[in-house]
Amino acid sequence: MTKLEVKTSLLDNMIGVGDSVLLETLTEDTFLENLKKRFDHGEIYTYIGNVVISVNPYRHLPIYTPEKVEEYRNRNFYELSPHIYALADEAYRSLRDQDKDQCILITGESGAGKTEASKLVMSYVAAVCGKGAEVNQVKEQLLQSNPVLEAFGNAKTMRNDNSSRFGKYMDIEFDFKGDPLGGVISNYLLEKSRVVKQPRGERNFHVFYQLLSGGSEALLKQLKLEREFNQYNYLGLDSAKVNGVDDAANFRTVKNAMQIVGFMDDEVELVLEVVAAVLKLGNIEFKPESRMNGLDESRIQDKNELKEICELLGQDQAVLERAFSFRTVEAKQEKVSTTLNVAQAYYARDALAKNLYNRLFTWLVNRINESIKAQIKVRKKVMGVLDIYGFEIFENNSFEQFIINYCNEKLQQIFIELTLKEEQEEYVKEGIEWTHIEYFNNAIICELIENNTNGILAMLDEECLRPGTVTDETFLEKLNQVCAVHERFESRMSKSSRFLNDTTLPHTCFRIQHYAGKVMYHVEGFVDKNNDLLYRDLSQAMWKTNHMLVKTLFPEGNPAKMSLKRPPTAGSQFKTSVATLMKNLQTKNPNYIRCIKPNDQKAPHVFTEALVCHQVRYLGLMENVRVRRAGYAFKQPYEPCLERYKMLCSQTWPHWRQGARNGVQVLLTELQIPPEEFSYGRSKIFIRNPRTLFELEDLRKRRLEDLATLIQKIYRGWKCRTHFQLMKKSQITISAWTKRHFQRKKYLHLKSVTLLIQSYIRGWKARKLLRELKHQKRCEASATTIAAYWRGFQARRELRRLKEEARRKHAVAVIWAYWLGLKVRREYRKFFRANAGRKIYEFTIQRIIQKYFLELKKKLPSMSPTETTWPARPYLFLDNTHIELKRIFHLWRCKTYRDQFTAQKRAIFEEKLEASELFKDKKALYTNSVCQPFQGDYLEISKNPRYQKLTAAVEEKILLADVVNKINRANGKGAPRIFLLTQSKFIIADQKSGQIKSTVPVMDITSVSVSKQTDGLFAVHLKEGSAAAAKGDFLFTSDRLIEIITKLYRTIFFKTNQKINVVIDNEFLVQFNQDKVCVKFIQGAQKNGNLPTCKRKNNRLLEVTVP
Ligand SMILES: Nc1ncnc2c1ncn2[C@@H]1O[C@H](COP(=O)(O)OP(=O)(O)O)[C@@H](O)[C@H]1O
Ligand SMILES: [Mg+2]
Repeated sequence: MTKLEVKTSLLDNMIGVGDSVLLETLTEDTFLENLKKRFDHGEIYTYIGNVVISVNPYRHLPIYTPEKVEEYRNRNFYELSPHIYALADEAYRSLRDQDKDQCILITGESGAGKTEASKLVMSYVAAVCGKGAEVNQVKEQLLQSNPVLEAFGNAKTMRNDNSSRFGKYMDIEFDFKGDPLGGVISNYLLEKSRVVKQPRGERNFHVFYQLLSGGSEALLKQLKLEREFNQYNYLGLDSAKVNGVDDAANFRTVKNAMQIVGFMDDEVELVLEVVAAVLKLGNIEFKPESRMNGLDESRIQDKNELKEICELLGQDQAVLERAFSFRTVEAKQEKVSTTLNVAQAYYARDALAKNLYNRLFTWLVNRINESIKAQIKVRKKVMGVLDIYGFEIFENNSFEQFIINYCNEKLQQIFIELTLKEEQEEYVKEGIEWTHIEYFNNAIICELIENNTNGILAMLDEECLRPGTVTDETFLEKLNQVCAVHERFESRMSKSSRFLNDTTLPHTCFRIQHYAGKVMYHVEGFVDKNNDLLYRDLSQAMWKTNHMLVKTLFPEGNPAKMSLKRPPTAGSQFKTSVATLMKNLQTKNPNYIRCIKPNDQKAPHVFTEALVCHQVRYLGLMENVRVRRAGYAFKQPYEPCLERYKMLCSQTWPHWRQGARNGVQVLLTELQIPPEEFSYGRSKIFIRNPRTLFELEDLRKRRLEDLATLIQKIYRGWKCRTHFQLMKKSQITISAWTKRHFQRKKYLHLKSVTLLIQSYIRGWKARKLLRELKHQKRCEASATTIAAYWRGFQARRELRRLKEEARRKHAVAVIWAYWLGLKVRREYRKFFRANAGRKIYEFTIQRIIQKYFLELKKKLPSMSPTETTWPARPYLFLDNTHIELKRIFHLWRCKTYRDQFTAQKRAIFEEKLEASELFKDKKALYTNSVCQPFQGDYLEISKNPRYQKLTAAVEEKILLADVVNKINRANGKGAPRIFLLTQSKFIIADQKSGQIKSTVPVMDITSVSVSKQTDGLFAVHLKEGSAAAAKGDFLFTSDRLIEIITKLYRTIFFKTNQKINVVIDNEFLVQFNQDKVCVKFIQGAQKNGNLPTCKRKNNRLLEVTVP
């Protein structure tokens, strides 16, 4: 969007004059005429120098658009037609650029447009200051605090449909860039009496109507409210609806604003509950009741409302009811309770409602402050906007109006101080030629009200604190005594006769001639309102509620924090806060907006001259114009002035060392500014016309631009140079690196190519050499082959020849031998006997056998019986002999081997032989036993002292002593027992003690049974009827089964010469007592080593599990 180039000026298209200072002839008439003319043309703003006069148009004007904001942004004050935006812009820029805290003071009577003006200023500042999400949120919160405060603090009055019923001063805080950081709102004295009573034609605070009109059914039900206004005593009926005001819509706006400002949903709820409670308090009514002792008492008429209030506030109904019926006075440990009569009860009720609402309002302001306060702790620049209730004159003026008007007096005072008094005094002090301009100084009125000893407020306080009966009348009397002589105080009762006959002044009133007119105050209620008394019972009752908010609103109700000291009176509180405010304002640069109300009908286009004239007079605007016309628009000490403009003159720039004043003189002379445009004060330069100042500013701006250009030029030159140098350096570096890179690449390429060629050539050469060598080798090989063939051929030929020769020689020899043989046989035939051949034959055979034996003797194998080798047979005809000889030799060898044995060893072998005969290939356990020598006595019981008795019992030689497991006949479990075998018996004894358990003569043994498997279980069957067989056959297990049975077998054989039967089978019968039991062997899993496990299954069966 192209920015609209606006070329308007204060002087362009001017209706009347924009700045009253420019009026040709200055009289009250011309001044008013100018205002009226401008007003009629919709120009509601007019300047007096830098003060803005604003006349309320009572209609919407199209001069607050965003385009207008842009137009006034960053423009000089007098550049464009007068506007509140120009003032706001000036203040904002001054704050941002010159670091001066600002305040915008907006004055005027009620309905003159102050609140609107303050909002315009704030919205302008919001529009022009920084942007960004965070800043926007701050702005939004600052702006949205307005609707909330207006709902709770504004009301319709006779003068203004949206009259502020509280004073508001808002500090907006900015950072060094001019971005808003947050704000602080101070509120001044809410007109709380409005909560319980409104003058005719006026309304209560907006929020009540908004809540009832805009609250949803559910909300109203929750708050126990009815929608009709007429249900509530506290809502004035005659103007419940205001034209052009949509309370319901406003309620939504307020709720929305509360949300933006940062109120939690439950906080809003709490606030509305308090509002509802206040409204309902008005409906509590009392009826009188007389007691026996004559004291007046009151009773609540309908307790339903009370009950609902208590429900809303989480209050015990009895507590509140009591607080409405009694009043407890505490003084020095003493507590006195008195009953309240009906009037007192109503008073208590209203006081509670007022206090509740007032405290809620203060809480709201604090809560808003909490939300909008600046989050960062940096030095802040501040713009304060003061929108305080305007001067008020009603038919019936009370304490509130008195306070409001006092405040306005103070503001007028500060205006006078800064614009009229101080300015004039300064001219004199600075030695500027000056004719004094008269004006009315309202200090005298301020004095009348606020003087600490005899001011009206001091009198009121004194009266309130005085013991004895105090009424409004006694207060008036006191005023009459003390203030009667004051020229601005009027009273019928005063001794001064001036007003004795003034019938317009009732006896219950006093009148003050304010700067803005005479106001008659009714003293009724002054004392109460100043006291602002809330019975302690009520504040304590409120503190006891369960309502989070209400509880915090009445901290003094906490018995722990109760103090007997009186709180400061409303008047003195207000006086202090106004004094603080004034002090605060004086530290800031003031900007004035003076609002004027053109008519009393709130009507557009109506300019009631008399009304305006009155305001112009009391606002001191004429004097203001006069001082402005005669005075100077701008003043500044020499040093900052020189500092600011010294760049405009070659002599003062950049350094001036001959005093600031001289510097400014040189500067202004060189700039050729007409001498009547300025005056030299003692410490300050005074510039008459703003335009001169703006000219200076423009020059400065242009010069600054030049300077900026210069700096820019040098900087750019420097930047370009350094950039260029850097680029050059970089270029050299880069090219060096590039060249290096390419050379390196080329070199590497060449190197690799050379290496390749080299390798090819070397390869080629090597291959050539290889070929040659191969060829040579082949040649050599073929020569050798040929030679070999040749030699082979020759050798074979030679061999053949030799063989042939040998054959021939042999043949010759054979033939020769035959021939010789033949010849010999022919010769000797006659000498041979007939049996000579046989003898030769026998001789030859004998010789051969002789040779055979001699050779066999040499070659005989070893004497080991296990040896199986035998020399080879040399002659076929000796075959049988040879085998027979082998057999004989073996037998002989075995005999010699046997002959070496001792008798003992022989016995052992005999036993082993016996065992082999008994068990070999019959019982699997046998193979294990082959390599075990049969030791017999394994225990050596005679050497063991434990077995002494046992040794004694056995007289014979022990053949076998070992530990066996005796199987219990009944259950099959085994128990270790010593098994001793002698030549005639075997003995079973306890292993530990050696005690003999059984002795069995071997004669009684009939047979023995074992399994075919690897187990060591055996049964010894006994002769039936023998002594040993009483219990039945024995069952044992032992690893040495083979040895035991063999020994048993042999022993029995030696004793009886009978071979007992050894049964080898996997199932056999045994005799236990009377039973024949079958012992059955089955294959099972390995359990405890290799031992079989026996289990007596039943009478007939004992099962042995063999692993
Ligand atoms: N600049 C304006 N443009 C249009 N209407 C205005 C303007 N200033 C004031 N008003 C009207 O005048 C009424 C009263 O103004 P307000 O600022 O509330 O007065 P004050 O705060 O001085 O009592 C506003 O409600 C509005 O209708
Ligand atoms: Mg207002």
